Amino acid sequence: MIGIFDSGLGGLTVLKPLRELLPRADITYFGDIRNAPYGNRSHEELTRLTVDAIRLLRAHGATGIVSACNSVSASLSLSLFDTLELGPGRLIEMVGPTVASLKGTDERLLLCATSATIRSQIYQSAFAMVGKDIATLALPDLAGAVERGAPQAELEAIVLSELMEINIDSIDAVILACTHYPLAVEAFRRVLPDHVRIINPGTVVAARVARAWEHEETGEGRMRLIISAESAPFRAMAKQAFPDEDYEIEVLEHAETA
Ligand code: DGL
Repeated sequence: MIGIFDSGLGGLTVLKPLRELLPRADITYFGDIRNAPYGNRSHEELTRLTVDAIRLLRAHGATGIVSACNSVSASLSLSLFDTLELGPGRLIEMVGPTVASLKGTDERLLLCATSATIRSQIYQSAFAMVGKDIATLALPDLAGAVERGAPQAELEAIVLSELMEINIDSIDAVILACTHYPLAVEAFRRVLPDHVRIINPGTVVAARVARAWEHEETGEGRMRLIISAESAPFRAMAKQAFPDEDYEIEVLEHAETA
């Protein structure tokens, strides 16, 4: 069974393409809505929340974990494998597949992400390993606005005010390196010039997961969504993402998470 987690509804942008690629896999999704947004939290808090999320998914039977949250990527240290008894190759995160998919490009890249992701330098270091410099931009208010189902005009105002800080003529492509941001893609499209390509890493990560686990993840196609607090926007987004699928949404009692 595959376990996938994010701070809230953003990870559904990874779960959706993953369901399409692995329709027979049993998948449990955890959205930590009670502690969202993650993107303005400290490294210590993110490490604790990451361990809690992985433990919860393991307790529900997950043998492969997908971290669909860029903000916790710097907390996914090698020591987790032993402490959480995860075998090698049993955890897939956002940064590696995203950078690998872009390593040959000569496009000038702007990485849009949460403050935690940008502060951790994890993307900057990974791109440096493949000889590429990138520009970065934090949008500290965007994930929270998406999480609470803010209207399109508000999302656009946030995107516009942050992108005004950038010399957009020096950019060919924008990476939406927070899983919430593809849900605001219309706002990015309206604010960015037409020639700027918008990259959603969710599809690349889903393809990476499918390649790694397609032969073993041949269950009954069950999908279970667990959230740590009730959320109408989460329910609406799940309905929109999976209109024809059977799934249950379980709201956790507080005692089950930190
Ligand atoms: N969606 C997560 C990410 O990819 C976290 C966003 C947040 O909760 O701030 O970074």
